[in-house]
Order: sequence, then structure tokens, then C-alpha cells
Amino acid sequence: MRVMIIGASGLLGKELVREWSDSDLIRPTSQEVDIRNAESVASAVRKNRPEWIVLTAAYTDVDGCETNVDHAFAVNRDGPVIVAKAAKAAGARLLFISSDYVFDGTKITPYETSDPRNPQSVYGKTKAEAEVNLLDLMPECCIVRTSWLFGVGGKCFPDTILKAAATRSSLDVVNDQRGCPTYATDLAKTIVQLCRKNASGIVHATNAGDCTWFEFAGEIVRSAGLVTVVRPVSSEQFPRPARRPAYSVLSPHSLHALGIEMPSWRDALSRYLKQRLS
Ligand SMILES: NC(=O)c1ccc[n+]([C@@H]2O[C@H](COP(=O)([O-])OP(=O)(O)OC[C@H]3O[C@@H](n4cnc5c(N)ncnc54)[C@H](OP(=O)(O)O)[C@@H]3O)[C@@H](O)[C@H]2O)c1
Repeated sequence: MRVMIIGASGLLGKELVREWSDSDLIRPTSQEVDIRNAESVASAVRKNRPEWIVLTAAYTDVDGCETNVDHAFAVNRDGPVIVAKAAKAAGARLLFISSDYVFDGTKITPYETSDPRNPQSVYGKTKAEAEVNLLDLMPECCIVRTSWLFGVGGKCFPDTILKAAATRSSLDVVNDQRGCPTYATDLAKTIVQLCRKNASGIVHATNAGDCTWFEFAGEIVRSAGLVTVVRPVSSEQFPRPARRPAYSVLSPHSLHALGIEMPSWRDALSRYLKQRLS
């Protein structure tokens, strides 16, 4: 399979490069292909003729999006449309990565792909609007919503907790946001399967099970054999610029319908810890 990964230097992009090492990969840097620049995208796609374009590139600083609003919309909403137009013109398939933050978090049961979007942050709005525009322009595209990504290829929650726990006797972590941690390695394997299966439409792809950030931090500390005490606190005690959904568990039904299952987040975390130490 001839695949172009846009965003290959990121946390997820690096794992995709690893998973697809036996394929014909094109992975331009953000200097070579800036998704805000239609000509740079179109000429790279025309020249390389990929069967699939996997778009992981994004402005992922959720709090930063609240202040850099124009940049957030240019990269996260308009960039994907530019890529979709180039893909359409070249007859390539497109897989776009979206987020659980397209939901408002008011549900108490897992979000299905058909649930209405109601983003509460600028980042969530950019992703939600990108989804709508892509489905309008290219209904056969595949939109993969994921959440709480972690892995060795970049900044992530378990890494932050491990670094903090190494020097502190206690950590306060929010216990009123529930979601699904997702190991970039497992998501990359799932994305490869989705492309091989010619998937289209919206798919929810996360590790199985859910937890709060407090529960996640507790498991990270315990699994790493550290003695740091992890204490539950509320989001109000930790005000952040961007509002996060209180509940953003994504239902696996859409993934299971395609015959794909992802391991539990606890299993994923233990593999991450081994990978981080090796
Ligand atoms: N992290 C999470 O918890 C999470 C949760 C849900 C969904 N997602 C989504 O999952 C995807 C992957 O996230 P990630 O954590 O792997 O991201 P990341 O580590 O922040 O990497 C972002 C990538 O986007 C590239 N990029 C940024 N602006 C660009 C532009 N204008 N043109 C071309 N490339 C550009 C970066 O290139 P440079 O390195 O050259 O800047 C980098 O390769 C994103 O779509 C993100 O929104 C992430």
C-alpha cells in the first residue's frame, strides 16, 4: 500500500511510521507540506500519488487553541479541507484523526458515532467543524475519533506523571473527567487495519475501558513501582483555559462492527512502561 502520513513527526505519526515500515511510505515534514498551504499539499499529493493519506497533523495544544484561535482553525479545520481537496483530485482515500472533545461530556454512557457534536473548547470546535466539512466534501473519507493519547514519541500524561512522581511525595490529579486512555502504538495498528479494510465514515478508536485522570495517574504510579501518593481533586481546583468534557468515553461499537478490537488501557499502559524503560 502506498501511504502518505501528514504529521509523521508527532506522537501518533511516529508509531504509524513504525507500524507501516513494510509499506511504501511518504512522510513529508511540516516544512515540506504545510497543510495551511493548498499548493504545497496539492503538489506533494500529485507527485506521490498515495492510495491513502493519513492526516495526523494538527495544532494539538488544547489550551493554546483558546488564545491562538485563528491558527487553531487554520490548521485543524481548514487544513484538513485543503488535504481532502487534494486527495479527491488525485483519487486518494483520506483518513483524518479527530477527538473526543467534539462532545460536550454531558452523557453518562459511552458516546456513539451518531451522537450530536457539541464542543466546549476552541480545539473541539476546530475538530467538529473539520469533520462536518470533510463529510460534506468527501463522504467516503474515514474519520477516526480518539482520546487521551499516550506513547513514547512525545509529551503525554503518563510521562508527565512519572517525571513528577520521581521528585514529589504526593500529586493532586483531577477526578471529575472520565475518558479512555489510548496507546499510540495500539491506535497506529488500528489505523493500518482500517486502511486495509477500506473503512469509511466515523469510527471511534480507543483502548478498551475507561477511567478518570486520577485513576489513570494512580495506575501509572503503582505500575511503575513508585510510592508517591496520588490524591483526587476537582477540575475547579485546577482551572485551565480550555473546558474539558466531564465524560468523553467513546463507544467501541463502530470499531467492533469492522471486526477490530483494541486491548484494555491497563494492558496498554504496562506495554508503554516497558517500552519507555527499554
Ligand atoms: N494527543 C491527544 O491526546 C489526542 C487526543 C485526541 C485526538 N488527537 C489527535 O490525534 C492526532 C495526532 O496527535 P499527536 O498527539 O500525535 O500530535 P502531535 O504529537 O502534537 O503532532 C502534531 C503533528 O502535526 C504536525 N503539524 C502541525 N502543524 C502542521 C501544519 N500546519 N502542517 C503540517 N503539519 C503540521 C507537526 O509537525 P512538526 O513536528 O513539524 O511541528 C506534528 O508532526 C491529532 O490530529 C490530534 O488532534 C490527539
